[in-house]
Amino acid sequence: MSTSAFYDPGKTYDDNFDDGPTTTGREVKDNNSGEPSFSFLGKKLYSPFGIPAGPLLNSDYIKYAFENGFDVLCYKTQRSIPFNCNKFPNVMYLDVDGDLTLEKAEKPQLGLLSTNKSEKELSITNSFGNPSRGPEFWVNDLKKALSYQGKGQLLIMSVVGSIQDDFSEEDYWDDFAYAAELAANTGVQAIEINLSCPNVATEGVLCYNYDAVIGICKRVKNKVGGIPLIAKFGYFSKQQQALLEKIIKDTSPYLAAVSVINTISAPVVNESGEQALPGPNRLKSGVCGASIKWGGLDMTKRIRQIIDTNSLELEIIGVGGVMTTDDFKEYRTAGADLVQSATGAMWNPALASEIKKGL
Ligand SMILES: Cc1cc2nc3c(=O)[nH]c(=O)nc-3n(C[C@H](O)[C@H](O)[C@H](O)COP(=O)(O)O)c2cc1C
Repeated sequence: MSTSAFYDPGKTYDDNFDDGPTTTGREVKDNNSGEPSFSFLGKKLYSPFGIPAGPLLNSDYIKYAFENGFDVLCYKTQRSIPFNCNKFPNVMYLDVDGDLTLEKAEKPQLGLLSTNKSEKELSITNSFGNPSRGPEFWVNDLKKALSYQGKGQLLIMSVVGSIQDDFSEEDYWDDFAYAAELAANTGVQAIEINLSCPNVATEGVLCYNYDAVIGICKRVKNKVGGIPLIAKFGYFSKQQQALLEKIIKDTSPYLAAVSVINTISAPVVNESGEQALPGPNRLKSGVCGASIKWGGLDMTKRIRQIIDTNSLELEIIGVGGVMTTDDFKEYRTAGADLVQSATGAMWNPALASEIKKGL
């Protein structure tokens, strides 16, 4: 397959940040025309499709993605303080056959620096740890990114809290609200909170902690006022169904949408069976791409049912393993109001244009 992606896994995060996006040769300038006919969060859109938080590192990437017809973009998750990236490499190809079920994800998965998989079958692991150059950089850069948002397009800002010295649990929750407030002051029209990063060992995956989820959503909503708020969740197992229902119902007064899913965590090893990604606490990392589509679809269906049964006013962003137009359609049928693709879009910048042909 073509190994060319607009985020180049062979380069460091900083090199991608400073020099990217990498041109893949498959770019399609997409000029939206006519009147936008889809809607999400009350905004009119040319398509209910885009790129979730992650592959778009700064305003240069946002410009590139809007120009290639991805209409709903998320700026990569940022913090209220500068924070280093995990050590290189941050992206590896994974040799997964079929679905990465929860059972399979308990077992070591082989991480590779190249792959023979076709683009549609591609799975990777990504492990960055929510790096941030801090608000001194991103607040102004977000304003620049907003200047690229055209008619019928939407830019969402993703933020996360940071545990700092002497912080109580509540200080940590307040830091989500502070980061969201910094974003709100830029004029951005939607804010997402990342409650599901699997790659920062000390911070953990928050979305399974009921008190933390409610505490954070309440605090953030209080700061962002009328700006629609989105929470990004990971996969909830069938055994966690009651918790999922309670979280969806009890966060709905604060949220306009939920985004599901982030990645599915698995141990990633090299050919000798040792931890593949360097550094402490990096044996397990988030898997994304084709092998997790089952998880995103399953969560979309389960949340759609919770919303419908309880008449909640909540929209769903379906994420995970969208590599083709058919995958997009499957998510829409499952009940997603909006669909986003990270891995699929990185390796195929023409994906939005292909999907729009079938709308
Ligand atoms: C390179 C890369 C970086 C990512 N960084 C973030 C991030 O900063 N915040 C976040 O909420 N999700 C992040 N993700 C997860 C994606 O938003 C998405 O939930 C996940 O990759 C599943 O979608 P996919 O199968 O289309 O890749 C990242 C994913 C990739 C591939």
